[in-house]
Amino acid sequence: MFSSVLGLFSQDMAIDLGTANTLVYVKGRGVVCNEPSVVALQHDRKGNKKVLAVGTPAKAMLGRCPSDIQAVRPLKDGVIADFEVTEAMLRYFIERVNGRRSFVSPRMVVCIPYGTTEVEKRAVRESAESAGARQVYLIEEPIAAAIGADLPITEPSGNMIVDIGGGTTEVAVIAMSGIVYSRSIKVGGDHMDDAIAQYIRRRHDLLIGPRTAEAVKLRLGNAAYDGTTAEMQVKGRDLVRGFPRVVTITSDEVREALEEPVHLIVDAVRSSLERTPPELVSDIVDRGIIMTGGGSLLRRMDTAISQATGLPVIVAEDPLSAVVKGSGRALEEMQYLALTN
Ligand SMILES: Nc1ncnc2c1ncn2[C@@H]1O[C@H](COP(=O)(O)OP(=O)(O)O)[C@@H](O)[C@H]1O
Ligand SMILES: [Mg+2]
Repeated sequence: MFSSVLGLFSQDMAIDLGTANTLVYVKGRGVVCNEPSVVALQHDRKGNKKVLAVGTPAKAMLGRCPSDIQAVRPLKDGVIADFEVTEAMLRYFIERVNGRRSFVSPRMVVCIPYGTTEVEKRAVRESAESAGARQVYLIEEPIAAAIGADLPITEPSGNMIVDIGGGTTEVAVIAMSGIVYSRSIKVGGDHMDDAIAQYIRRRHDLLIGPRTAEAVKLRLGNAAYDGTTAEMQVKGRDLVRGFPRVVTITSDEVREALEEPVHLIVDAVRSSLERTPPELVSDIVDRGIIMTGGGSLLRRMDTAISQATGLPVIVAEDPLSAVVKGSGRALEEMQYLALTN
């Protein structure tokens, strides 16, 4: 009784703790926070760290900080690299969403990368609790993505979901609300950015930072030729002379630069299909492969996977928020959660 009264006032929330972006969904209000998973820390002379900025302003500092400030991504490679900073970030987002209402502690669903270890799970749970959660549920990313993409996951038929995030790509086959097969590779949007920076360095003797590389990817990135070529000017530092210089980069070059990461992702999908039980494969043939995550927005990524597998590929509506929306639905329809806790 008491807890149902509390439930009326508290803001139950779902959090997608992604390697690139953290999103918060509040029951009845939708997605209320969508920020880069970046924290800027200031170090004093005694070696203590202080959180200077979180989210968008912290991302703007990446690669641009004076020596006493450090902008970090606490979840960089799909694992929680720094517990303390992850907790600070989680607390910041929760407090911002909760505002003054924080005296009532909410129930919270936190979506964690698949393959998170027990130790990491405990750390996330404790962070959420210490940031004010009354009850914490953890949900695994492929399940949340599938719910968010509106897949009928409680049915016996098989669904394949491919989530291309910042640090990882997760391929999962889901049936009857469970993960039948899954595979995670440490290749995602970050690696595409690295590949672009390396290519421009090799090909044009130009040094560019990760934010510029990402901007080139968003503007010109493509996984397969679509009959058109676009170009843009990219600023960087000349490797030989050390001066700033501008070069023109084409979408054909970017496609070439992205060949390796795209190939690795396509290969992970193909080998996952080979390891999926035949009955489920035939369901996937009927329904197609569903893609979520920011990387699924890379132009013609769907075509590249479709060509390699011969299967239809569908990018989920609003792929960047599928996971948090799925986690939010799990909060509203608790039977989904019973399965994961
Ligand atoms: N239009 C786009 N084309 C290619 N990549 C994109 C696009 N939009 C976002 N991304 C990439 O998607 C990644 C973030 O995806 P996201 O699903 O938020 O990751 P995570 O779940 O790991 O936080 C970043 O690497 C970003 O550069
Ligand atoms: Mg994600």
